[in-house]
Amino acid sequence: MKPHPFSENNTPRNSSRISLTPGIITLGYLAIGVLWIFFSDFILNSLVDDPMLLRQIQLYKGWIYVLLTAGLIFWVLRRNNRLAESARKTIEESRNQYVALLEAASEGIVIADTRGLIKLVNKKVEQLFGYRRSELIGQSVDMLIPKIQQEQHAHYRKAYLEDLKTRSMGQGRHLEGLRKNGSVFPIEVSLSPVVTDEETLIMSFVTDISERKKAEAQAELHQQQLMQADKMATLGILVSGVAHEINNPNNYILLNGKILTKVWNDVLPILDVHHQQSGDFLMAGMPFSRAREKIAQLIYGISEGAMRIQKIVNSLKDFARQDKGDMNQEVAINVVLESAIVIVHNLVKKSTGHFKVNYGDGLPLVRGNIQQIEQVIINLITNACQALENPSQKLTITTRYRRRRNEVLLIVADEGVGIAPENMSRIMDPFFTTRRDTSGTGLGLSISYRIVKDHKGELTYDSRLGEGTTVVLSLPGIKTPKETRILRPV
Ligand SMILES: Nc1ncnc2c1ncn2[C@@H]1O[C@H](COP(=O)(O)OP(=O)(O)OP(=O)(O)O)[C@@H](O)[C@H]1O
Ligand SMILES: [Mg+2]
Repeated sequence: MKPHPFSENNTPRNSSRISLTPGIITLGYLAIGVLWIFFSDFILNSLVDDPMLLRQIQLYKGWIYVLLTAGLIFWVLRRNNRLAESARKTIEESRNQYVALLEAASEGIVIADTRGLIKLVNKKVEQLFGYRRSELIGQSVDMLIPKIQQEQHAHYRKAYLEDLKTRSMGQGRHLEGLRKNGSVFPIEVSLSPVVTDEETLIMSFVTDISERKKAEAQAELHQQQLMQADKMATLGILVSGVAHEINNPNNYILLNGKILTKVWNDVLPILDVHHQQSGDFLMAGMPFSRAREKIAQLIYGISEGAMRIQKIVNSLKDFARQDKGDMNQEVAINVVLESAIVIVHNLVKKSTGHFKVNYGDGLPLVRGNIQQIEQVIINLITNACQALENPSQKLTITTRYRRRRNEVLLIVADEGVGIAPENMSRIMDPFFTTRRDTSGTGLGLSISYRIVKDHKGELTYDSRLGEGTTVVLSLPGIKTPKETRILRPV
């Protein structure tokens, strides 16, 4: 018979010290009695010569038998007792050992019967699930499993009972444990059967894999970022090649468009005279009276289109630029802001009658490339201007120092159209634009974002649809703050 590992009936096997069973004791008693009846006279006769003494002894023969067997029975019982005591101690020791083992295990151990009722848990289970042991014993293991997985768990249990062997539960599946406070956490469960003659128990080893899952997610993210960086690098090479290829023919179109405009302007008076003298005539199937306006528009369209292509090509070149330029310049944000405002002056004037700039005092310098930082500021101001719907809406730019984090901040706040929540996560994506119809390329912010990252800075957006947008550009300050208001860009 297989011993039950978790019961008190676990007797040690010690063949040299077999305890005498009641059957053996009774048989022995009977055997001694029968022997005594048959052989006592013979033994006494051979031992005692004196007939008087022999008669006396025979009178007490019964007493002698009783004393002799009582002694024997006493000896047997005492011996049995000792053996039982030593067996109990051995069981106690081995029980303590396995309890110590269970308690020391780094995994949670739950032992349940085939109906799923918990028989035993170790300390780790209390820590993992937040229950006290007494709250778990006798309860169903379902209380440790989220409701949504209970049905699946019952299915696993059934399948396991049909094919008992050590293996992990729900291999490759996402298992979760349910804590007393209702929170869930990812677990891995390995099952081991404990089969005895009395019953079959299932021992589950539960491991909390939250940390491992977190590390895996992190690794996955890094991998994706690497792939993305690789894709962007490849795209960058492709884009700069394409940009170069488009630039050359586009320059012809731009140039020729200008020449065509001049040609048309020169030819027009001659055609007008001809029209007056000879009446209307056809140009590419169109009467001159209509073509006169139309052709000017067509030539203008060619030049406009070519200029748009040029803008896209230049943005693509910026976007794909691998060379970061001189990143070691000491940049005074207020000064760069001033020069950026000069560049976008006309657009700002057209867009708002409420433009305000608050230059912060005592800002530290930042390290980086002046032209690139200026490009970012121009992009932010341009976007803000383009978001304004009428000149009564305000545009405010503020610079200040966030001492706590040693950061220089440039804040562009507009009262424009705002950004729809569903677009928020996409505005930095290359080619994402809501202004395609007004010649937006969707590259402005993706270029700005890359530049800001190269400068170890941040670009954060806060926007409400229909109310406006606030962009915060933060760049790390160089340790010693200087009065930067008077510095001019190099
Ligand atoms: N201040 C802002 N207010 C409202 N929407 C904004 C603002 N700044 C950016 N956006 C949104 O982000 C999108 C992407 O901006 P981005 O500067 O990259 O491209 P664009 O301005 O559309 O095109 P381009 O910069 O090439 O002219 C914009 O189309 C717009 O939807
Ligand atoms: Mg833009």
